Order: sequence, then C-alpha cells, then structure tokens
Amino acid sequence: MKSPRARLFVALDLPDPVRGGIAAWGREELADPALRPVAEQSLHITLAFLGYLPEKRIPQLAEIVAAGGGPAPRIELGGPVPRPPRGRPRLFAIPADSQATIALQAGLEERLVDAGLYEPEKRPFWPHVTVARVRREERGSRRPALVSRPPGALPEDLLQPFDGVRITLYRSQLQPQGAQYTPLALVELPGNGQQ
Ligand code: 2AM
Repeated sequence: MKSPRARLFVALDLPDPVRGGIAAWGREELADPALRPVAEQSLHITLAFLGYLPEKRIPQLAEIVAAGGGPAPRIELGGPVPRPPRGRPRLFAIPADSQATIALQAGLEERLVDAGLYEPEKRPFWPHVTVARVRREERGSRRPALVSRPPGALPEDLLQPFDGVRITLYRSQLQPQGAQYTPLALVELPGNGQQ
C-alpha cells in the first residue's frame, strides 16, 4: 500500500503584532469581494514549499528545521503587489525585503536538498507575505475575478523593520474555506523582536 502523504512547507513566522497589524489593515484594504484575505494566524513568509511527502519523512524534516536556528533575520515590508504583475492578478503579496531571510532560506534549502526532501524552485527566492488570493470569476472557471479596488499602502508602523521570530514546519490541509496550517516542528530565532 502507498504510504500516507502530507502537504508540507517550511515558513518564517512573523511577530504577532505584525500579523495583527496586517490583518487590521486588510479589513479595510482587502475588502474587495473578489478577494479572499489570508487569515491572521496563517500569515507567514514561505521558505520552502515541499508539496506532498510521505508522513514517515516528517521526523527527519523536523530535525532539519530544529537544527536551522540562528539569529533572527531583520525584515522590512513594502507595499502590496499583484501577482502576476501583468494581467488579472491571482494574489496580492507584501514584499518582505530581507537579505538575512534570503541567506536563511539558502541554508535551509541546501539541507533539504542534501536530504533528498526538496527540489529547489527554478525562480530565485522572493521573500513575501501572501495577504489575499483572488476568487475565481465563476465556478469551474480558472480565470481570476476582477479586483476593482486593489489594496492600498500599509500604515507607517508596519513599514518599520522587525525580526522574524521562528522557523516552522507546517502541514497544510486543503479545505473548502481555505487551507488549514498545523505546526509540526519549530525553532525559535533569538532576536530583538519588533523595534
Ligand atoms: P504563497 O504564500 O506565495 O502563496 C502553503 O501553501 C504555502 O506554500 C503558501 O504560502 C504558498 O506560497 C507556498 N507555496 C509555494 N509554492 C506553492 C505551490 N506550488 N503550491 C501551493 N503553495 C505553494
């Protein structure tokens, strides 16, 4: 019998006040009916999307994540951008500018690849926080609905630099109301928190 599989990804978690701030901003700025805002507790920076892996690999993955601790990376958020940048967007993301996060991701990626658990993306890593996905135009259609009121800028306090707080291995369970993320392993990153 085929071994059971889990949909997994590794993410850099944001400080609670930052998640709360983005969620509060989103209540105004992601109110367009075509948008499905990401729930506050699900806001994160994806470091590696692993896809479906056998559940029996989870302990090995947990070890790799737990060993990946280091100083907390400093992050600076930017203005929300549509993806793809041209044509009807499928999602809106906030760029999370951070050389330290790029370095952290490169180290994690190397350990995951060495363990045969990850195939790197062809495009370069772009740290970002997805804040909303665009609904489909209609049932069965793959075309995204038209967003008449795209999100505006973040408030000034969210543009201040802050530190990432931990690296977490998540299981993602797809549900009609959106994906449910469950933490399976984590490592806290020592830093100063928010400034
Ligand atoms: P995103 O934030 O850019 O949408 C869980 O699905 C996380 O893994 C999401 O945050 C998503 O990134 C990321 N991810 C990366 N590649 C993915 C893929 N091919 N399918 C689904 N999620 C992916």
